[in-house]
Amino acid sequence: VLVAPVSAFATALAAIKIGAHPVFVDCDRFGLIDLDAAHRALAADHSIHYAVPVHLYGHCINMERLADLKQRFGLRMVEDCAQSIGASCRGIPCGSVGDCAATSFYPTKNLGALGDGGALLTNSEALAAEARSLRDYGQVSKYRHEHIGYNSRLDELHAAILDRVLLPRVQEWNTARRSTAEKYLAGIRNPVLTLPGAPQGSGSCWHLFPLLTAPGRKAEFLAHLSATGICVGEHYPAALMDQPAMAGVPYLLADDCATARDLCAREVSLPMHPYLEADEIERVIEACNSFF
Ligand SMILES: Cc1ncc(COP(=O)(O)O)c(C=O)c1O
Repeated sequence: VLVAPVSAFATALAAIKIGAHPVFVDCDRFGLIDLDAAHRALAADHSIHYAVPVHLYGHCINMERLADLKQRFGLRMVEDCAQSIGASCRGIPCGSVGDCAATSFYPTKNLGALGDGGALLTNSEALAAEARSLRDYGQVSKYRHEHIGYNSRLDELHAAILDRVLLPRVQEWNTARRSTAEKYLAGIRNPVLTLPGAPQGSGSCWHLFPLLTAPGRKAEFLAHLSATGICVGEHYPAALMDQPAMAGVPYLLADDCATARDLCAREVSLPMHPYLEADEIERVIEACNSFF
């Protein structure tokens, strides 16, 4: 399974848990799977049949190129849309190229529930039926179990809140996130910090706002922000294959994943959510600009 190396560990787990071997291929400077590198990996290794591209940080991968890759190599694909509800690339929404897409309703997500939850999105009736059954101990009808399923149901209360209350507000929240991102991009001016922005054509939903510190400066920058009372994150401090749990896992590296490792060594995520006030955004910008 072709897997992007910068993501939540859940992305790699999806492949590992079914007994498949993750094949890590490098990402680009935005953290998204490098589609040229993916092309090379697929041309070189015909045992790769699946891919789990991740629309990281809320940036949408180039969907036309993703569709081309899928078709050219006959891939089956699960798009990881955990961070990208509402994102699109040149008008094509994320999640619409893969056989299915998975998303997360973890509370901090763009469509976050009050606890854990998630959904599978597909236009395949067969896949939807199988997923419905798998989430409920493999039942296809009451007490008839045709699959070895599990318990992964979204409870009714959460489903109702998500559907009736939260989902209708996602666009408005994403607009607020985009506005914050624009302010950060316009206001942060510091030679020690690089703002990758979003890839061209990507209608990012800005789940996170990542920036890159100069090599070797990340710890100092984190300490500086923390001293000014600004809470920041790291997404992610280590590439997936460099996590201790991967030591016993048979995975492959399609290339040296140098961009991914460099990104992990330098990335810091600034505060990003729909309720940031103008003066809070200004404080973050000032804190970034006063770091030398
Ligand atoms: C990119 C990505 N994939 C997968 C997941 C897993 O989602 P969940 O925690 O809802 O299982 C997350 C959430 O952290 C994520 O950010």
